[in-house]
Amino acid sequence: MGGPAAGGYMSDWLTWLIPVFKAGHIFGLVFWCGGLIAMPLMLARHDPTIGQVDYHRIRRAAHLSYTLAITPAAVLTVVAGTWLIFMRGTFVEWFYAKLAAVVLLVMAHMWIGEVLVSVAESAGRKKPPRPWLPVAAVCLPVLVILTLVLAKPDLGWIRFPEWLQEPLESELPLAVPRL
Ligand code: HEM
Repeated sequence: MGGPAAGGYMSDWLTWLIPVFKAGHIFGLVFWCGGLIAMPLMLARHDPTIGQVDYHRIRRAAHLSYTLAITPAAVLTVVAGTWLIFMRGTFVEWFYAKLAAVVLLVMAHMWIGEVLVSVAESAGRKKPPRPWLPVAAVCLPVLVILTLVLAKPDLGWIRFPEWLQEPLESELPLAVPRL
């Protein structure tokens, strides 16, 4: 795919940054997606019958993994990916489909975080879902994303309605102060 990097509006010193951003993107997504798959397995071990010390240890490990590794890895992936959009000029259909699948992955991320908090705060009353459910919620969008980004299929046959493809010259529903 030819992007602006190939097309030439980016200066040379920015072009060599592409592999750096791509490495950061891939480093981040390995920890993000790997961590999201590991979390439901850790959550399944939140069983008060394992004893207070072990319960405390697994709860702390899950909390620290989510807040200090998985969520920062998600931020790194999204930030590096956003820079790559402009460096590689990925304004094409397969990329928009990829972003839709990323939304599903972010929703799975939020769901796992919500389960983590509700299990931790309910003193053993709330049980986490069976691990295969959140693991499937993570793996499905990841597989779709990887297929789209690695195969880069031509999805140009998808037709969007006219009103989505051209400016409608409508007013904003709020007053914008004039400078
Ligand atoms: C908001 C989130 C994301 C954005 C904005 C984004 C954006 C991008 C962009 C612009 C590229 C460069 C494509 C190219 O060079 O042709 C890229 C590469 C890549 N992305 Fe993402 N991405 C995001 C999330 C993800 C996720 C969650 C995954 C995996 C589960 C992923 C997997 C990859 C892979 C494997 C590549 C390398 C593809 C290649 O070089 O051919 N991305 N991403």
